Amino acid sequence: MTLDDTPLGPEDSHLDKTGEKLLYEELQNFWHPVAYAADLESGGPVPALLLGEPLVVVRLGGEIRVFRDLCAHRGTAMSLGWVEDDQLRCGYHGWTYGADGLCTEIPARFGTRIPSRARLASYHAQDSSGLIWACLGEEPRFPVPVFGDFDDPDVRVVSMPAYDWESAAARRLENYVDFAHFAWVHDGILGDRTQPEVPDHDVRRVGAELRFGEGESYGELPPTGAEGRGQSRDGLPHQTGTIIADKAYRLFMPFTVWLKQRLPGGQYYQLFFAAAPTGPKTCRSFTQIGRNYDLDPALDEKFVSFNEMIVGQDRPWVQSQRPEELPVDLSAEVQIRGVDRVAVEYRRWLREIAFASSPGDPDPSESAE
Ligand code: FES
Ligand SMILES: [Fe+2]
Repeated sequence: MTLDDTPLGPEDSHLDKTGEKLLYEELQNFWHPVAYAADLESGGPVPALLLGEPLVVVRLGGEIRVFRDLCAHRGTAMSLGWVEDDQLRCGYHGWTYGADGLCTEIPARFGTRIPSRARLASYHAQDSSGLIWACLGEEPRFPVPVFGDFDDPDVRVVSMPAYDWESAAARRLENYVDFAHFAWVHDGILGDRTQPEVPDHDVRRVGAELRFGEGESYGELPPTGAEGRGQSRDGLPHQTGTIIADKAYRLFMPFTVWLKQRLPGGQYYQLFFAAAPTGPKTCRSFTQIGRNYDLDPALDEKFVSFNEMIVGQDRPWVQSQRPEELPVDLSAEVQIRGVDRVAVEYRRWLREIAFASSPGDPDPSESAE
């Protein structure tokens, strides 16, 4: 069954008041970014926030660790402490913890038996594609998203400072892949109000990803031969015609996007974006910008400030959305077939995730394939 054959009306009308809450609970079973890897080069510790849980991210013995940011002694923030001999020391009374989270030293009483409860809660952690990722659940459902060109010596990658929005991560992510808004919110830059139509496009599930836009392989995007697409203006992407051509999207469920955009002359512009749910209605966004041209580091700032300008245009719209949490019921908001295809398929998958551990979804989502 194709998406266009899929009814969006009465079959999806079983309003479920707990779908968004279930989704939020399920998010603990996925990888989310908590810091840029560069922030851990000196070892840390650095504080982070994920799903309402204050975390401390630290490098001990070369390995990244993510703990609850809570000393077992008096509940102070471990992120206020420091690394010493590959252990994390709390600054309040000097307790130290090893890479496994177990307390190894209580300076006020050397030689005392260390209680087994003197430990830090530890979570899954990975250092991958320039980001530190954490998973608070017992077993991550999907692999860590991969920015495939991150280590390509021909690609220069620069990070944009992380930023916090008063919006749910799913709302923020959906905005990032919303084709119809480019002509309106980013008129003259990423779109054109005189050409607001969104062409038909395919959306496919591949493993843990949704793929759409051109090119299923990031090695080679097929030539389009069209004028006015994917233009480059001062090295920055600039769209005047259709807004999907020359872009290949990989959306790693639930909140990461790798966009690879072809510009004239064999140039590629890339965004690796991940929104972390810091709470049910708040998120922190991490963005890495890649390019295989204009490799002079002095030009990094141009790419960062361009993205900050785009993000500034998006922010008031996304933060104004009500309800703040993205509805996982397709009938809760109006979907336009063809145009909103990415959102429809994305929400359908989020709904499956929401009800994964809760039998009795009144309206199980269908597969896209
Ligand atoms: S609160 Fe951390 S050592 Fe006392
Ligand atoms: Fe936007």
